[in-house]
Amino acid sequence: MALSAVFLGLLLYVQVSLGQNSSTTLTSIAGTSSVQAANSSTTTPTITISVPSSTITNTGGASFPPVGSITRDFSPSGLEKLWDVVGPVESPPFTTTVVPHTPVVLPSPPPTLYPSFYANRPKDILPHLKYPKGFLFGLATAAYQVEGATKNEGKGPNMWDWASRQPNAIVDNSTADITDLQYFLYKEDVARVAALGVTAHSLSISWARIFPFGTADSPVNQEGLDHYADVIKYHRESGVEPIVTLFHWDMPLALQAYYGGFTSGQIVDDFVNYAKTVFSAYNGTVKTWFTFNEPRVFCSQVASYPFNITYAPGVNTSTAPYQCSYNLIKAHAGAVKAFREMNIVGEIAFKSDDFVGTPWRKNTTDDAAAVERHAAFQIGVFADPVYVSGDWPKILTDTLPPDYLPRFTKQEKKDILGSADFFAIDAYRSQYISAPAEGLDACLSNGPSDPEWPQCNDIQEFDSNAMWAVGASADTGAPWLQDTSRFLRSAMKQIHKRWPTNKIYVTEIGFAQPLEGQRTELYRIKEDTDRTNYIMSYLGELLLSIHEDKIPIMGAFIWSMVDNAEWGQGLSTRFGIQYVNYTSLERTYKRSAMELSEFFEAHLHN
Ligand code: NOJ
Repeated sequence: MALSAVFLGLLLYVQVSLGQNSSTTLTSIAGTSSVQAANSSTTTPTITISVPSSTITNTGGASFPPVGSITRDFSPSGLEKLWDVVGPVESPPFTTTVVPHTPVVLPSPPPTLYPSFYANRPKDILPHLKYPKGFLFGLATAAYQVEGATKNEGKGPNMWDWASRQPNAIVDNSTADITDLQYFLYKEDVARVAALGVTAHSLSISWARIFPFGTADSPVNQEGLDHYADVIKYHRESGVEPIVTLFHWDMPLALQAYYGGFTSGQIVDDFVNYAKTVFSAYNGTVKTWFTFNEPRVFCSQVASYPFNITYAPGVNTSTAPYQCSYNLIKAHAGAVKAFREMNIVGEIAFKSDDFVGTPWRKNTTDDAAAVERHAAFQIGVFADPVYVSGDWPKILTDTLPPDYLPRFTKQEKKDILGSADFFAIDAYRSQYISAPAEGLDACLSNGPSDPEWPQCNDIQEFDSNAMWAVGASADTGAPWLQDTSRFLRSAMKQIHKRWPTNKIYVTEIGFAQPLEGQRTELYRIKEDTDRTNYIMSYLGELLLSIHEDKIPIMGAFIWSMVDNAEWGQGLSTRFGIQYVNYTSLERTYKRSAMELSEFFEAHLHN
């Protein structure tokens, strides 16, 4: 049977990579000579570390062990056996936490970006509007994408450690073994963003650092717990609120090998146990929690390359995304139930992604219906059960038989409904939606043999009249991303109307500056004008959303604090507001970082 298309068009990070030319290699990035900031001696804290050119090449290709073929051996040698599945790992150049150079001195601001007849400084954008008191000026990262130190301090392997080594999985053949080494450089990173006036950092905890073997009956890695305790403490001492996601897609490899990860119901208890451990360790020091990052994207990936792993009994490639969704939402609800029973101080939700969409052709009822399908499959799949009904959207149950999408019991519905304290959305883009070319009815009646089934809708990145793009395109490494700021207000209204809450966080927005990964001169890299435009436009639209549309948005987080390992794109596509030299690990503020700082200084309530 053809690969289930449930979340098709959504395999953003992985699919995109498959079509790319892989001629940009990690070696070519790591091999560039060290670049120095023109003003680094006076303004940028420098880290003098020399990192050897990358020597690890992706030699993978071994098939993932069949479910149950690895015995549960929670000893150090059992852990090594799990690492053997991954293969050799690159060691970091140092293994202790670096003490930052403080105070951080910011560089002088960049020259104005706009001509004098525009609002030419960030502070001049909607100068009369302020964000509400308590609004979070946030930056976002995720453990796998920035930490590096992948085999240090007792961490177990995760599925990204494995997947990144599969042939052609990552366009530049890079791994995240080192990336930014934020695991040992978090103080430097926090100090640098605190100097910008950032008030929150949305970070994730790596499950395999806390439970190297993943399961509830396996040992806790105290070093991992202590590490994040210090990370959290340092954030708070620096005035940067730590916001924690429990699962940003870095699945402990052990759980995939033992029982098929999220394709098995066994994951629920193990996740809840992990969540409880982390809640009780950091209770009172973290106020805002997320159980899962973008569960839809995660579940769409479990069945496809490079995660073409073995599944739990009874699950196959076609049903895996839905089985994953079913187990994941129960794991979310279980963790929230525990959070409330344990009286953990704070708030909790999960991070949705994507958008509702706008009908492509105004007078075509099929396009309006396609928007409903898009909203249901992309956001409603998790948001309807949690915020509205306790159950899957009707569009899903009308389309997918129970052997694809398991149905909830009465008790499960009860547990799921209301299991979030606010709404969180990664609001990168919002686009037009059309019915599939073959027509909505044809797609639905063709069923699984139709490549567009079960979603039966298409994304359109240009208008239907004159083919004007929805917005300026990001780097070719992120072909899914355009600057669609002009749709942001209507997107936020739609979200608030369909999944009402008293509080919304925009948990990720961000832009991959075109060509940035190919540039070598620091002064060109720092001039990330498209990213700056994107961020300023989105933040301005959010101000209008709050003041004109009365949408209760209480925080905005920019992806990403630093350049990061961008899934299938590896290190070749950059999202950071700070440049990271992957040879020296030196960080440099880009224009966007400086303008963000000025923007928030002018628009936050004191
Ligand atoms: C959202 C994901 O949460 C993050 O992991 C990813 O790197 C960014 N989007 C950019 O693609």
